[in-house]
Amino acid sequence: MEEEVVVNRKAVLKHHLPPDRVPKESDMELVATDTVRLRVPSGSTAVLVKNLYLSCDPYMRSRMTKHDEPSYIPDFVPGTVPTLNPVYVDLFSILCEYVFISAASGAVGQLVGQFAKLMGCYVVGSAGSDEKGIDIYFENVGGAMLDAVLANMRLNGRIAVCGMISQYNLGKHEGVHNLLALIAKCICMQGFLVSNYYKCYREFEEKVVQYIKEGKIVYIEDIAEGLENAPSALVGLFAGRNVGKQLIVVARE
Ligand SMILES: NC(=O)c1ccc[n+]([C@@H]2O[C@H](COP(=O)([O-])OP(=O)(O)OC[C@H]3O[C@@H](n4cnc5c(N)ncnc54)[C@H](OP(=O)(O)O)[C@@H]3O)[C@@H](O)[C@H]2O)c1
Repeated sequence: MEEEVVVNRKAVLKHHLPPDRVPKESDMELVATDTVRLRVPSGSTAVLVKNLYLSCDPYMRSRMTKHDEPSYIPDFVPGTVPTLNPVYVDLFSILCEYVFISAASGAVGQLVGQFAKLMGCYVVGSAGSDEKGIDIYFENVGGAMLDAVLANMRLNGRIAVCGMISQYNLGKHEGVHNLLALIAKCICMQGFLVSNYYKCYREFEEKVVQYIKEGKIVYIEDIAEGLENAPSALVGLFAGRNVGKQLIVVARE
């Protein structure tokens, strides 16, 4: 039987971006340079993987800029292909408190809110609103939002710093003015990286699949059709166009 050979299409970064602007669709392009044989050589133990869905995430923005100092994740190389669940570990240990979540309808935020509710917490989610008094803040946005929340935290509050998307397209990051609240209200603020918790992934999967089966968790996905729409989907994250986890479907099966 003749081997099937297909063209491998890629969405690649054309050039590095300056740190102080939002990415544009024209910063990326679709290329079809190489071909892939849809069969592994006979006798080989190799596995051929077909990608159906691609993830589209805010952290990719940082990788589009060339850094002089190495970041926690390598910069993209122009012309090559840009290659979760950080919410879980931080929330299963909290009980019956007031939780505020920014970017609450996004990929991360929607799960944080539901986990916190399952844990018995009172949850407020927003993209910018007034709050009464917050025990736990799940930070996705940073900047003015963080300042507003610091002013509204309660005594012994905790802030889990997941992301600061409002800062990702600024050359110089905004200052935070209400940091004295950390002292006055004895607030504990800690950042984390999802990659440090991959060891918990199996436990996460088991619990969350069960929750989904029981209808205790629902998860909203925002699916862009086709690789050609990947650049627009990535740009859309920074304009708040996505509702739910942004994915790109490149093949249905
Ligand atoms: N620590 C980790 O390991 C880790 C892992 C994954 C993600 N993260 C972080 O978690 C956060 C959420 O990521 P996600 O994947 O769930 O994305 P997402 O929330 O699904 O999408 C991004 C959302 O951020 C909001 N946004 C965009 N630009 C903004 C701005 N300038 N100011 C305020 N809000 C803005 C928009 O929502 P609204 O329209 O609702 O404002 C947008 O829809 C990001 O900060 C990301 O970097 C961290």
